[in-house]
Amino acid sequence: MESTVLRIENFSASFGENMVLKDINLSFSRNTLTAIMGPSGCGKTTLIRCVNRMHELTPNAKVSGKILLDNQDIYNTDPIIVRRQIGMVFQRPNPFPTMSIYDNVIAGYNLNGIKLNKEEMDRTVEESLRKAALWDEVKDALHRKGTFLSGGQQQRLCIARALAMHPEILLLDEPTSALDPKSTAHIEELVSHLKTTDTIIQVTHNIAQAARVSDFTAFLYLGELVEFGPTGKMFTGPKDKRTEEYLTGKFG
Ligand SMILES: Nc1ncnc2c1ncn2[C@@H]1O[C@H](COP(=O)(O)OP(=O)(O)O)[C@@H](O)[C@H]1O
Ligand SMILES: [Mg+2]
Repeated sequence: MESTVLRIENFSASFGENMVLKDINLSFSRNTLTAIMGPSGCGKTTLIRCVNRMHELTPNAKVSGKILLDNQDIYNTDPIIVRRQIGMVFQRPNPFPTMSIYDNVIAGYNLNGIKLNKEEMDRTVEESLRKAALWDEVKDALHRKGTFLSGGQQQRLCIARALAMHPEILLLDEPTSALDPKSTAHIEELVSHLKTTDTIIQVTHNIAQAARVSDFTAFLYLGELVEFGPTGKMFTGPKDKRTEEYLTGKFG
């Protein structure tokens, strides 16, 4: 039976006077991939930035409502701990340019002041790179800089870096939007596999990608959650006229 790991309740978010998320209610089941889909500017990035408490780092940003991780309100938890529990990968691959591949993977531990011994570090690096489907390509080059890698490999390195912290939730913000089709296919294959062991929330404005990789889809439009449900169901029989128009390419 699927269990809820994250629940967003009556949640709104603003930049100054501009409310960009309006009374969102949404639940995420453990070990599933949920796509957050919608046209540019509809609030997708803001939503996932609220989920790991990055939205509040913007001056004048405001939130109201609740986001519960395992029934604990993340807005009543130390944000540093929240960001450790809820990892994030951004649109553009951003490995630390001065660090080796190895050091990039375990960067979260060093930044958080968590000491691992050599054996734990080696194990974490290998496990994380295997989960991110990058191990075979880099296992003989772990001490080279991460920036030597291709864009697609760098993005998988960023996924490995997030996974190394064993997050409860992995947030991916349009992780393939800066990548070529082959690297995109590689990442889609990787997340399709990863969702069997990890809970993933993936922003995409690519309808075909949402259809290929996700179990559930949330359709956001102008800051409102228009529709949410199992991906197959929504794509074959959208309930809301706006969802249908979006899926048939009438806007966005
Ligand atoms: N740093 C910011 N300051 C003010 N407004 C912002 C900022 N970032 C995003 N916005 C506004 O919030 C809305 C939602 O943006 P965003 O969440 O980035 O949408 P999406 O990811 O769906 O393209 C947009 O109207 C955008 O202009
Ligand atoms: Mg965005």
